[in-house]
Amino acid sequence: MNTHTTNDSSSVFVPDGELARQRQYEQKVRELIGGRYPEGPPLAYVHSYGCQQNVSDGEKLKGQLAQMGYGFCDSPEGARLVLYNTCAVRENAEDRVFGNVGALKKLKRQHPDLVIGLCGCMTQQEQIAQKIKDSYPYVDLVFGTHALHRLPELLYQTLSGDKRVFSVDNMDGTIAEGLPVQREGSFKANLPVMYGCNNFCTYCIVPYVRGRERSRTPEAVLAEAEDLVAKGYKEITLLGQNVNSYGKTLPDGVDFAELLKRINDIPGDFVIRFMTSHPKDCTRRLIDTIAGCEKVCHHIHLPVQSGSNRILKAMNRHYTREDYLELVSYAREKMPDVVLTSDIIVGFPGEQEEDFLQTLELIKAVRYHGLFTFLYSRRTGTKAAEMDDPVSDEEKGRWFRQMLAVQQDIGIELFRQMEGKTFRVLVEGESRSAPGRVTGRNYGNILVDFPGTGDLIGQFVSVKITGSKPGVLLGERADETCYNPE
Ligand code: 5AD
Ligand code: SF4
Repeated sequence: MNTHTTNDSSSVFVPDGELARQRQYEQKVRELIGGRYPEGPPLAYVHSYGCQQNVSDGEKLKGQLAQMGYGFCDSPEGARLVLYNTCAVRENAEDRVFGNVGALKKLKRQHPDLVIGLCGCMTQQEQIAQKIKDSYPYVDLVFGTHALHRLPELLYQTLSGDKRVFSVDNMDGTIAEGLPVQREGSFKANLPVMYGCNNFCTYCIVPYVRGRERSRTPEAVLAEAEDLVAKGYKEITLLGQNVNSYGKTLPDGVDFAELLKRINDIPGDFVIRFMTSHPKDCTRRLIDTIAGCEKVCHHIHLPVQSGSNRILKAMNRHYTREDYLELVSYAREKMPDVVLTSDIIVGFPGEQEEDFLQTLELIKAVRYHGLFTFLYSRRTGTKAAEMDDPVSDEEKGRWFRQMLAVQQDIGIELFRQMEGKTFRVLVEGESRSAPGRVTGRNYGNILVDFPGTGDLIGQFVSVKITGSKPGVLLGERADETCYNPE
């Protein structure tokens, strides 16, 4: 595992020659599978686990496969290639992958030409790659996050040889620009602005599996954003493990606030979201920028992780609960309508009841619209994995349930306060609640369910909120238009 923290911006880009070589391999695979499957394009089942960054990587895997002549299907049955793009953030994410890979054994017996591939964060860990080598002999192809752009070459080796192919070398990480992308949606798009992470929060595997922090150039990000707007995309989500440190590895001084401004200036009817912000790098200037850019949603996902200063220090988070609460008040002062969401870890090694109670107090003080809550999961290779962890799973489970109950009440109250307001909602799909209804999301990424028909999907409509249920606002069409209400 690699832990040094410098990165020369010029060396992170994959050279054009290497990218061109991969395009040649795409042609070679196309010819090879054309001969092997004369009846028509073979199908690939590509599934991405985990975060939006991984989903975004999955879109590049699919883009490359499409260039190679693959079609796509929605389940492993009927596929000639199954590719699981894995997540390592918690143990249960890994367990799910192993369970799903185990289920492929039978399919492989029925179809010996089936290629089974595993890639992504989980496979970037040496001990996992070794486990697959030893215990899952029917997995043909394994590659880590750093080899995503080499899929054509690696797949060609797998298809043309009789050996299993493993490419999980550890390195600082690169940026491969211009890869083909097959996007999952036609009106909402992910736009990665940076990759990797330098923070080394002590619980987190990400810096080890995704390498050092590196930013795409503002020109590359802007060109992609302009292209998305021209293609009619209505929502662009800027992605990075820590978007607030965007630009630190670049020579020209464009930071995340400046990047937001430049994207906001692209003409067109679209909205901008971003994920994820680290509180230590979330500046007042950034909050001012969010408040001042009309296309940027007034929603900040600002993971606090814990409300105890002692635990925040042990987590290596570089802020205190006081710093965090000050940031929240500033954001609320500038944007009274701001929707705040967060990630919380319960049961970090050494966390005591009094630490947990401070987290509860912080949740009550901030009043989040939504929380993503996690029980601590030990990740081999991280600092926290070496720490004493004396509290029982039962006790941690009790804390966890207590936290969910507190948050549920807050969520219900905050949703009630939205009743009577009118939001601009981007319609996503037909509602599962009843026929003749659709769902979409407002500026806070909150689900809104209202009467409507499928032709509204992909459009902005105004919806007046008339009621709410846990996790969803109910409403009806309205005339006024209001995206980020004050
Ligand atoms: N255990 C539990 N939760 C974790 N997260 C990251 N690492 C761990 C871990 N080892 C959570 C954090 C992070 C979110 C994406 O996942 O809350 O913000
Ligand atoms: Fe995303 Fe982290 Fe999971 Fe990798 S380990 S897929 S970066 S959440």
